[in-house]
Amino acid sequence: MSIEPRELRDALGRFTTGVCLITTVTQQRTPLAMTANSFSSVSLDPPLVLWSLQENSDVYDVFAGARYFNINVLALEQQALSTQYARKGQHEIERAHYRDGKCGAPVIRDALVNFECEQEATYDGGDHLIIVGRVLDVQQRPSGDPLLFFSGGYREIR
Ligand SMILES: Cc1cc2nc3c(=O)[nH]c(=O)nc-3n(C[C@H](O)[C@H](O)[C@H](O)COP(=O)(O)O)c2cc1C
Repeated sequence: MSIEPRELRDALGRFTTGVCLITTVTQQRTPLAMTANSFSSVSLDPPLVLWSLQENSDVYDVFAGARYFNINVLALEQQALSTQYARKGQHEIERAHYRDGKCGAPVIRDALVNFECEQEATYDGGDHLIIVGRVLDVQQRPSGDPLLFFSGGYREIR
Protein backbone atom coordinates (compact mmCIF):
# COMPACT_ATOMS: atom_id res chain seq x y z
CA MET A 1 0.00 0.00 0.00
CA SER A 2 1.42 3.39 -0.89
CA ILE A 3 0.23 6.67 0.56
CA GLU A 4 0.03 9.81 -1.55
CA PRO A 5 2.35 12.47 -0.04
CA ARG A 6 -0.42 15.07 -0.29
CA GLU A 7 -2.85 12.84 1.61
CA LEU A 8 -0.23 12.08 4.26
CA ARG A 9 0.60 15.78 4.66
CA ASP A 10 -3.09 16.63 5.10
CA ALA A 11 -3.57 13.83 7.62
CA LEU A 12 -0.49 14.79 9.65
CA GLY A 13 -1.68 18.40 9.62
CA ARG A 14 -4.72 17.38 11.62
CA PHE A 15 -2.48 16.76 14.61
CA THR A 16 -2.57 20.12 16.38
CA THR A 17 0.81 21.50 17.43
CA GLY A 18 2.38 24.57 18.90
CA VAL A 19 4.73 26.65 16.75
CA CYS A 20 8.42 27.23 17.51
CA LEU A 21 11.31 29.23 16.17
CA ILE A 22 14.51 27.18 16.14
CA THR A 23 17.44 29.57 16.45
CA THR A 24 21.18 29.29 16.07
CA VAL A 25 24.15 31.25 14.70
CA THR A 26 26.30 30.63 11.64
CA GLN A 27 30.08 30.31 11.91
CA GLN A 28 30.21 34.06 11.13
CA ARG A 29 27.85 34.64 14.12
CA THR A 30 24.87 35.58 11.95
CA PRO A 31 21.72 34.78 13.96
CA LEU A 32 19.19 32.55 12.15
CA ALA A 33 15.64 31.43 12.94
CA MET A 34 13.45 28.83 11.29
CA THR A 35 9.77 28.20 11.99
CA ALA A 36 9.11 24.60 13.02
CA ASN A 37 6.27 22.58 14.48
CA SER A 38 8.08 19.23 14.65
CA PHE A 39 9.27 19.94 18.19
CA SER A 40 8.64 17.15 20.69
CA SER A 41 9.70 16.20 24.17
CA VAL A 42 11.85 13.05 24.41
CA SER A 43 13.16 12.48 27.94
CA LEU A 44 13.07 14.15 31.37
CA ASP A 45 16.23 12.53 32.76
CA PRO A 46 18.38 13.17 30.84
CA PRO A 47 16.52 16.27 29.59
CA LEU A 48 16.14 15.69 25.85
CA VAL A 49 13.94 17.23 23.15
CA LEU A 50 13.86 16.90 19.36
CA TRP A 51 12.87 18.61 16.16
CA SER A 52 13.12 17.57 12.49
CA LEU A 53 14.93 19.57 9.82
CA GLN A 54 13.96 19.16 6.16
CA GLU A 55 16.92 17.99 4.10
CA ASN A 56 16.25 20.41 1.23
CA SER A 57 16.45 23.53 3.39
CA ASP A 58 18.83 26.27 2.21
CA VAL A 59 20.08 26.52 5.79
CA TYR A 60 20.35 22.77 6.37
CA ASP A 61 24.10 22.81 6.96
CA VAL A 62 23.89 25.54 9.60
CA PHE A 63 21.14 23.89 11.66
CA ALA A 64 22.41 20.33 11.17
CA GLY A 65 25.91 21.35 12.25
CA ALA A 66 25.05 23.68 15.10
CA ARG A 67 26.43 22.66 18.48
CA TYR A 68 24.04 25.02 20.28
CA PHE A 69 20.49 25.90 19.30
CA ASN A 70 17.39 27.22 21.02
CA ILE A 71 13.78 26.15 20.74
CA ASN A 72 11.49 29.13 21.27
CA VAL A 73 7.80 28.30 21.74
CA LEU A 74 5.75 31.12 20.24
CA ALA A 75 2.94 32.96 21.97
CA LEU A 76 -0.33 33.73 20.20
CA GLU A 77 0.65 37.32 19.40
CA GLN A 78 3.87 36.14 17.68
CA GLN A 79 2.20 34.75 14.54
CA ALA A 80 3.98 37.39 12.41
CA LEU A 81 7.35 36.00 13.56
CA SER A 82 6.27 32.52 12.51
CA THR A 83 5.34 33.77 9.04
CA GLN A 84 8.47 35.88 8.69
CA TYR A 85 10.96 33.12 9.54
CA ALA A 86 9.18 30.49 7.44
CA ARG A 87 9.98 32.41 4.23
CA LYS A 88 12.62 30.83 2.03
CA GLY A 89 15.89 32.71 2.36
CA GLN A 90 14.53 34.91 5.18
CA HIS A 91 16.09 33.33 8.23
CA GLU A 92 18.37 36.12 9.47
CA ILE A 93 16.89 37.40 12.72
CA GLU A 94 16.11 41.08 13.20
CA ARG A 95 18.01 42.53 16.15
CA ALA A 96 14.80 43.56 17.95
CA HIS A 97 13.52 39.99 17.99
CA TYR A 98 16.20 38.39 20.16
CA ARG A 99 18.81 38.59 22.86
CA ASP A 100 21.93 36.46 23.14
CA GLY A 101 21.47 33.21 25.05
CA LYS A 102 23.89 31.69 27.54
CA CYS A 103 25.53 29.49 24.89
CA GLY A 104 25.46 32.05 22.08
CA ALA A 105 22.30 30.99 20.27
CA PRO A 106 19.59 33.68 19.99
CA VAL A 107 16.76 33.73 22.53
CA ILE A 108 13.51 35.04 21.01
CA ARG A 109 12.05 37.79 23.18
CA ASP A 110 8.57 37.28 24.69
CA ALA A 111 8.31 33.62 23.63
CA LEU A 112 6.26 31.40 25.95
CA VAL A 113 9.28 29.19 26.60
CA ASN A 114 12.92 29.20 25.53
CA PHE A 115 14.76 25.88 25.67
CA GLU A 116 18.53 26.40 25.33
CA CYS A 117 19.98 23.19 23.90
CA GLU A 118 23.22 21.48 22.96
CA GLN A 119 23.04 19.01 20.10
CA GLU A 120 23.07 15.50 21.57
CA ALA A 121 22.53 13.33 18.48
CA THR A 122 21.12 13.32 14.97
CA TYR A 123 19.24 10.52 13.23
CA ASP A 124 18.24 9.84 9.66
CA GLY A 125 14.55 10.61 9.35
CA GLY A 126 13.91 10.06 5.64
CA ASP A 127 13.66 13.47 4.00
CA HIS A 128 14.25 15.10 7.41
CA LEU A 129 17.12 15.00 9.89
CA ILE A 130 15.98 14.30 13.45
CA ILE A 131 17.94 16.56 15.80
CA VAL A 132 17.98 15.68 19.48
CA GLY A 133 19.02 18.40 21.90
CA ARG A 134 20.01 18.26 25.55
CA VAL A 135 18.26 21.06 27.41
CA LEU A 136 20.83 23.21 29.22
CA ASP A 137 18.51 25.97 30.40
CA VAL A 138 14.83 26.90 30.28
CA GLN A 139 13.08 30.25 30.65
CA GLN A 140 9.30 30.46 30.87
CA ARG A 141 7.02 33.45 30.55
CA PRO A 142 4.66 33.47 33.53
CA SER A 143 1.52 33.77 31.39
CA GLY A 144 0.31 33.95 27.81
CA ASP A 145 -1.56 31.83 25.27
CA PRO A 146 0.18 29.61 22.70
CA LEU A 147 0.13 29.98 18.93
CA LEU A 148 -1.36 26.78 17.48
CA PHE A 149 -1.10 25.19 14.03
CA PHE A 150 -3.81 22.92 12.63
CA SER A 151 -4.69 21.82 9.10
CA GLY A 152 -2.31 24.31 7.48
CA GLY A 153 -3.50 27.35 9.44
CA TYR A 154 -2.89 29.20 12.69
CA ARG A 155 -5.35 28.71 15.54
CA GLU A 156 -5.84 29.82 19.09
CA ILE A 157 -7.24 28.17 22.20
CA ARG A 158 -10.90 29.12 22.60
C1 LIG B 1 3.94 26.15 10.85
C2 LIG B 1 5.21 25.72 10.14
C3 LIG B 1 5.93 24.65 10.65
C4 LIG B 1 7.11 24.24 10.02
N1 LIG B 1 7.82 23.20 10.56
C5 LIG B 1 9.01 22.85 10.02
C6 LIG B 1 9.80 21.84 10.63
O1 LIG B 1 9.44 21.26 11.66
N2 LIG B 1 11.00 21.52 10.04
C7 LIG B 1 11.43 22.15 8.91
O2 LIG B 1 12.53 21.82 8.44
N3 LIG B 1 10.71 23.13 8.31
C8 LIG B 1 9.52 23.49 8.85
N4 LIG B 1 8.78 24.49 8.27
C9 LIG B 1 9.28 25.14 7.06
C10 LIG B 1 10.32 26.22 7.37
O3 LIG B 1 9.87 27.10 8.36
C11 LIG B 1 10.61 27.12 6.13
O4 LIG B 1 9.42 27.39 5.46
C12 LIG B 1 11.57 26.51 5.18
O5 LIG B 1 12.71 26.17 5.90
C13 LIG B 1 11.90 27.52 4.05
O6 LIG B 1 12.86 27.01 3.16
P1 LIG B 1 14.46 27.20 3.42
O7 LIG B 1 14.79 26.45 4.67
O8 LIG B 1 15.11 26.57 2.22
O9 LIG B 1 14.75 28.68 3.55
C14 LIG B 1 7.57 24.92 8.87
C15 LIG B 1 6.83 25.99 8.36
C16 LIG B 1 5.67 26.39 8.99
C17 LIG B 1 4.91 27.58 8.45
